[in-house]
Amino acid sequence: MPFAIPLLSDGPLTLRPHRASDVVPVYARSVDPLTREWTTIPLEYTKSMAADYVAAISSEQEEAVSWALDCDGAYAGSLDLRFQGANSGNLGFVTAPAYRGRGLMSRAVALAVAHAFDDLGWDVVTWTANAGNTASYKTVWRSGFPPPIAVPHLLAHRGKMVEGWISSLASGDPRTPAGPWAAWDDVASRLPGLSPARQPWES
Ligand SMILES: CC(C)(COP(=O)(O)OP(=O)(O)OC[C@H]1O[C@@H](n2cnc3c(N)ncnc32)[C@H](O)[C@@H]1OP(=O)(O)O)[C@@H](O)C(=O)NCCC(=O)NCCS
Repeated sequence: MPFAIPLLSDGPLTLRPHRASDVVPVYARSVDPLTREWTTIPLEYTKSMAADYVAAISSEQEEAVSWALDCDGAYAGSLDLRFQGANSGNLGFVTAPAYRGRGLMSRAVALAVAHAFDDLGWDVVTWTANAGNTASYKTVWRSGFPPPIAVPHLLAHRGKMVEGWISSLASGDPRTPAGPWAAWDDVASRLPGLSPARQPWES
């Protein structure tokens, strides 16, 4: 059964379906250097690809809920909750460059996690990122995701398998930080290459 795309709000942020007017800002955030560094967006991305992408995710999908982040009517990013079987899903997200650092993705993750557990009745939500993406981890840390495990060769990135961070939250877990951010930040700053698999938080 396809997944509905409910309207969800928290403070200045609304999560809503994508619409045609999002194509230009979706293209802009897709060719942004940070997006290219940390996601698998094609490097030869075009406006026509952005239009196809927006058209494909604007209505209900079989395997995912895709929201646009909206601030005062303007597109501010995208968040996907991708069904991965076994009553669970995986998060994926990008904030538009001009809207980064305002706490928007932290709010969006909290809304998506609440939807996954409280509305869809899922058991688990997982998050992965290329090792080193501390900004991405901070957004899920705020929703209770424990310090990630670093796994060598976890994620496909531009033709090779790279080290990844993975963390998961279960439906009964607290949705508040599992530990102080300062502890994570201190550990992460001393770990240029994270391998083999271990808890960076506790090393
Ligand atoms: C990761 C990303 C989605 C975060 O979105 P955002 O809306 O800026 O997120 P928030 O503002 O809620 O939180 C980000 C936090 O990380 C912090 N941060 C940003 N860059 C950082 C860095 N290089 N190192 C450490 N912390 C960083 C911000 O200061 C902010 O913390 P604060 O709220 O305490 O000030 C955004 O940076 C982005 O789009 N990056 C490129 C794509 C990407 O990496 N997607 C995730 C793939 S897993």
